[in-house]
Amino acid sequence: MTTIEIPKPLAEGWTLPATWYSDPEILRLERERIFKRSWQYVGHIDLVTSPGSFFASQVGHVPIVVVREDEETVRGFVNVCRHRGHIVARGSGCRTTLQCPYHAWTYGLDGSLRRAPRSEREPGFDPSGFSLLPISIDTWGPFLFANADPDAAPLADTITGIPALVGSSGVDLSSLRLRERVEWEMPANWKNAIENYLECYHCPTAHPALAKVVDVDVDSYRLVEREFTSSQFGSIRPSVYAEGANVAYVPRGEVEGAQYHFIWPNTTVNIEAGRTNLSLDVTFPSAPGRSKGWTDYYYGVDVSDEEAAELMAFASQVAFEDQSLVESVQEGLDSGMVPQGRLLLSSEKLLAHFQRRIRDALVDD
Ligand code: FES
Ligand SMILES: [Fe+2]
Repeated sequence: MTTIEIPKPLAEGWTLPATWYSDPEILRLERERIFKRSWQYVGHIDLVTSPGSFFASQVGHVPIVVVREDEETVRGFVNVCRHRGHIVARGSGCRTTLQCPYHAWTYGLDGSLRRAPRSEREPGFDPSGFSLLPISIDTWGPFLFANADPDAAPLADTITGIPALVGSSGVDLSSLRLRERVEWEMPANWKNAIENYLECYHCPTAHPALAKVVDVDVDSYRLVEREFTSSQFGSIRPSVYAEGANVAYVPRGEVEGAQYHFIWPNTTVNIEAGRTNLSLDVTFPSAPGRSKGWTDYYYGVDVSDEEAAELMAFASQVAFEDQSLVESVQEGLDSGMVPQGRLLLSSEKLLAHFQRRIRDALVDD
């Protein structure tokens, strides 16, 4: 029997309850009902090019390891030893087996337990019952996604709409190279961070440099929602190209406009106008009021370091501003003095869509 606070109707514009951003029971339910059964971006297919190559990562709170078994097969496993729970693989590398560093239980690239020292002294010990637990792995272009549910429906069923939009953005996925992974942690619930991403109502006030480059006006900035995804589209203000315009960067290149896509529950895909670029963010809870994540910054193979640095500086400034907004909201929510906020459903409809999905996952009606 759970004892979470039941929200007033979200359809009337109410936000999720403030308690949902710090309640350990909410986090327990989110792990069980959302993160154990959703697709999340984990890395580039180049991380597992040759047989035996692997990398460790996580899907939400679930530690995983992705392994190339042979030319055809990339597999994923829960990266937790079946003996007593040590993490089996760290970092990345290339091996013929995966050996747990605690008592040397050794697993094949297919996950089967090959060797458990001294297990021959154990009557009835059957190694076939102690393979690494399988998870689902799928790809969108060169991007690997993982889902802790071994029977997950294909990734394509979740990301509907996004491959076509990214395909028409001017970004050629095959030309992208990872330039940098930035990892972060912040004192704010993961939903708070995603919600900040899902609206640009705050852009004119909180991102002055962005708002000078991207047209964030209510009638031009577009918001589109689908079942498991949503998208935001911003065109570049023509004034940016005027001589002497005092702006953070002048987008010139293959990509005409900005696209910001959300993939339920915690992956986002960003394309800025200008040279070929794409970044993927992952955000997940590390504790009830804390979140962790990473951003992978990809650029076209022929984008110069200077061009990449200019775009990166622009994106980092926005990220820095967002982080302080999100932390401030957490402080306000934690006060408990405003139990449920009030959304503007026209400007914050993608956020409302996200909150509805969260509510429906956690409340048994
Ligand atoms: S916990 Fe892995 S071998 Fe003991
Ligand atoms: Fe923002």
